[in-house]
Amino acid sequence: MKLPYLSALGLFALTVSAHSEYVVAFSAGGESTITASNIPLNSVADGIPQYATTTESDPEKATGSPGRIPKGNPPEPVNVYPNTGNLTRPEPMPYMPAGGINTSPDDIPVYQAFSDFDWQSLSLALHQEWIELDLFQEGLRRFTVEEFEAANLTADDRSLIEFMAQQEVGHATMITNILGPNAPRQCEYQYPFQTVSEFIDFCQKLTRWGESGVYGFLPHLDSRAAAQLLLQSITTEARQQMIFRQFEGLFPMPVWFEVGVPQSFAWTLLAPYIKSCPAGNPRLPWQNFPTLHILNNYNAIQANGSANASYPPAITHNRQLSHPGDEVHFFFEPPGQAVGPNMSYVTSTITEESPKWAAWFNQLNITYTPLYNVSENEAYTRQPNLTLYSELNQIVNGTVFVALTDTDLYLTPHNVSLVLPHVVAGPNLWQAG
Ligand SMILES: *[C@@H]1O[C@H](CO)[C@@H](O)[C@H](O)[C@H]1NC(C)=O
Ligand SMILES: *[C@@H]1O[C@H](CO)[C@@H](O)[C@H](O)[C@H]1NC(C)=O
Ligand SMILES: *[C@@H]1O[C@H](CO)[C@@H](O)[C@H](O)[C@H]1NC(C)=O
Ligand SMILES: *[C@@H]1O[C@H](CO)[C@@H](O)[C@H](O)[C@H]1NC(C)=O
Ligand SMILES: *[C@@H]1O[C@H](CO)[C@@H](O)[C@H](O)[C@H]1NC(C)=O
Ligand SMILES: *[C@@H]1O[C@H](CO)[C@@H](O)[C@H](O)[C@H]1NC(C)=O
Ligand SMILES: *[C@@H]1O[C@H](CO)[C@@H](O)[C@H](O)[C@H]1NC(C)=O
Ligand SMILES: *[C@@H]1O[C@H](CO)[C@@H](O)[C@H](O)[C@H]1NC(C)=O
Ligand SMILES: *[C@@H]1O[C@H](CO)[C@@H](O)[C@H](O)[C@H]1NC(C)=O
Ligand SMILES: *[C@@H]1O[C@H](CO)[C@@H](O)[C@H](O)[C@H]1NC(C)=O
Repeated sequence: MKLPYLSALGLFALTVSAHSEYVVAFSAGGESTITASNIPLNSVADGIPQYATTTESDPEKATGSPGRIPKGNPPEPVNVYPNTGNLTRPEPMPYMPAGGINTSPDDIPVYQAFSDFDWQSLSLALHQEWIELDLFQEGLRRFTVEEFEAANLTADDRSLIEFMAQQEVGHATMITNILGPNAPRQCEYQYPFQTVSEFIDFCQKLTRWGESGVYGFLPHLDSRAAAQLLLQSITTEARQQMIFRQFEGLFPMPVWFEVGVPQSFAWTLLAPYIKSCPAGNPRLPWQNFPTLHILNNYNAIQANGSANASYPPAITHNRQLSHPGDEVHFFFEPPGQAVGPNMSYVTSTITEESPKWAAWFNQLNITYTPLYNVSENEAYTRQPNLTLYSELNQIVNGTVFVALTDTDLYLTPHNVSLVLPHVVAGPNLWQAG
């Protein structure tokens, strides 16, 4: 017997490779504490054990963790599809293997929201498209040609930014059409940049959470037809993110996979830049988590965080900002602060615990590193030293989501939103590369 849904994620392949440094804490929730390293936690049916090392065995050395695996995991296999590569059912039409969702001629696509989840996710995505439209135009409005040229951005580069703004018109139109007459209208925004370089850096970050915020919910939408359209806009947004990285002289795509994060992560990051919205705009139901400040973040505008000779725009520069093992210092705000459009949203947490872990969301992974010296609003951790599928691919690279949590729950890309009740502050973006 197999667990196809796990093997599809590569869990088998990796857990038996040389990754004995992975840490699984079994201390929380009264579960048994395992003290030796490399203990097979569960012998899954193929006889492939799931290895893990505990945090307890050496917390100082803990470099990351797939997290606390809930009881009863891995669950009983429920997928009976045999994975032989041979057809198992008659084809509904020539050259069309059986199965799939909405593949029959009787399935007429309906490009609308089918649930609250759909409508509110698309509404959040529309807010994101609206700010991008305003932001790209604002950069072109605010800075002179001379200022762009001093940052080595040419007339062609500026027209590319203008084109990206035009793309946002299309994206906003498309989502508005899906949502119908009550779709949120464009708001007014406030931006943290003073210079062209800071503008580019902000665009690179904003499109990062725009892109990942959609990946987090796209496969969960009830309306597959609406998901199809949104997918085709978010692939464009992904290209925008990469272009802003290149404008900033960063390596264009230093990861093998782009991460998906929950809607409330995107909303937490977006809301502070929305100054006011028109009366009558529907209220978003997503959560605003307390602000997480990273006190020693790297600045991609500067050569390497310590000097300020910048890298000019380029297709690529081989450069790295942070390193595995680097200390990362946090300051986290308490909940209960007004934020967002018309200051009408309030930051909150569901947990009342203090933070114990930094949760890193990147590539296919949610990994945890222990927090040290936790006080009422400060703590620090170390950047994890974990690779995915190859020693060449550090999980933490690029622009990375990091949040503080009260537990290190084991999560995978399709159930990442289960982290939400455990978030104490954040996320914010760590600039690793
Ligand atoms: C990263 O995610 C992949 C895919 O789900 C998984 O196989 C691997 O074990 C994870 N690694 C860590 C360190 O969590
Ligand atoms: C696929 O079908 C062929 C022909 O029936 C058979 O010989 C082969 O063993 C099947 N492959 C698997 C993996 O079951
Ligand atoms: C991040 O990616 C860049 C580009 O591939 C690479 O040069 C750098 O070494 C990576 N960082 C780490 C920590 O592996
Ligand atoms: C937010 O503030 C703006 C500007 O003061 C105002 O026009 C608008 O009606 C307010 N929106 C809401 C939802 O109260
Ligand atoms: C950062 O830049 C400074 C000045 O250019 C250089 O001396 C230093 O070695 C660089 N540090 C790293 C980690 O690349
Ligand atoms: C580096 O940046 C600081 C602060 O903006 C500025 O005062 C200083 O002159 C800059 N140094 C160089 C070499 O550009
Ligand atoms: C722009 O490019 C020139 C020539 O490569 C370089 O001397 C200058 O430092 C660059 N300016 C910036 C802001 O990167
Ligand atoms: C990261 O892990 C690799 C492989 O285990 C090890 O060789 C390297 O020294 C580690 N780096 C740090 C900074 O811990
Ligand atoms: C953590 O706390 C210990 C004990 O108070 C202190 O010695 C150490 O310097 C602190 N570490 C950091 C990085 O602040
Ligand atoms: C998330 O999904 C993985 C399977 O990919 C499962 O093992 C894990 O227990 C799930 N996490 C929670 C908190 O349910």
